[in-house]
Amino acid sequence: MMQPVRFGLIGFGAWGRHHAEAIVKTSDARLVAITARSEGTANAARDAFPQAATYTDYRRLLDRDDIDVIDIVLPSHLHHEVAAAALGSGRHVLLEKPMCLSLDDCDDLIGIARRQNVRLAIGHELRLSSLWGRVNEMIDAGFVGDPHYVLVELSRNPYRQGADGWRYDISRVGNWILEEPIHFFDLARWYLKSAGDPVSVYATANSRQADHPELQDNFSAILKTSGGAYAVVTQTLAAFEHHQTVKVTGSKGALWASWSGAIDRTRHPTFSLRVFDGGEVQSVPVERAAGELFELEDQIAMLVRSIQHDGPVACTAEDGRWSVALCLAAQRSVDAGTAIEVGTAEARA
Ligand SMILES: NC(=O)c1ccc[n+]([C@@H]2O[C@H](COP(=O)([O-])OP(=O)(O)OC[C@H]3O[C@@H](n4cnc5c(N)ncnc54)[C@H](OP(=O)(O)O)[C@@H]3O)[C@@H](O)[C@H]2O)c1
Repeated sequence: MMQPVRFGLIGFGAWGRHHAEAIVKTSDARLVAITARSEGTANAARDAFPQAATYTDYRRLLDRDDIDVIDIVLPSHLHHEVAAAALGSGRHVLLEKPMCLSLDDCDDLIGIARRQNVRLAIGHELRLSSLWGRVNEMIDAGFVGDPHYVLVELSRNPYRQGADGWRYDISRVGNWILEEPIHFFDLARWYLKSAGDPVSVYATANSRQADHPELQDNFSAILKTSGGAYAVVTQTLAAFEHHQTVKVTGSKGALWASWSGAIDRTRHPTFSLRVFDGGEVQSVPVERAAGELFELEDQIAMLVRSIQHDGPVACTAEDGRWSVALCLAAQRSVDAGTAIEVGTAEARA
């Protein structure tokens, strides 16, 4: 029988709690310890998961000798410091997106993971979705022919503040493109992988917050690839509920996937996938429910399998780095008002 994979979770906020639930639901995974910053949150973690030890200093969790994977669900400005320490201690790491706030920091983590010969997986769980993942499978199977155009669009209610308001503090969040549009750049690059690497991004954004123009409620970008395809990534945070659309067209056919929920974390969404093969339009049944809570569970299960059987992870550090690179280039484009070339610096890893 395989040994269970033992998890140490660092960060127990809005999303970290869901990680904890996903770990305990996964057969062959054990939740050994949890770290938060405050006593109050550590106590809440102890109440909810009495089987896990709790700490308020992540270094004490790293000092334990009974943990295989460190799962990092911290405010984004802490990702590099804590992931570097976790990888340096010889553990596998699941690091939430955005991988880091700079490419140098991403490169540093990739280097440590390679030297330590451990896995570094990034939390782009939409790749595991029964809906968004199905779109990818159909593209790979040639359903649309050569993909030429991808639209990833979201309209939703405003972002959560985060513990201590970090998400509304540009020095800690990096920028708001690194929050949600980063997932869409990840999907767009994935869907267009047969159309070459990204070569440029042109983006614009605005804010309804006069005193905080850097917190961009509306964001749109056009990403071009070396093969002549392009993706439109666009979102508004000034809307209601959570509604996401993906459209893909190619030389032969078209795909249209949509997902709606009262909030992003609902377990009761509505979703559909309609496809056109150049002849007729069909509805494709999607057997499993789609949504980030389900995908998070699948992501933890895939990481456990990856460690036990030396298999792949859903999103590698190199892919996570690419998505950071595209977000940083998009922010430069917003600031400059011109298209930004995405070149060797972005592609290097
Ligand atoms: N993949 C996805 O779909 C997805 C979805 C949501 C969020 N995320 C990412 O997940 C991360 C966390 O987001 P969130 O919404 O969960 O944030 P959050 O609600 O603000 O939670 C942050 C947690 O980190 C803890 N913390 C802060 N500083 C710490 C430190 N030095 N040591 C240990 N713990 C510390 C906080 O503890 P206290 O409570 O004690 O302050 C809190 O428990 C972000 O990077 C975000 O981008 C990803």
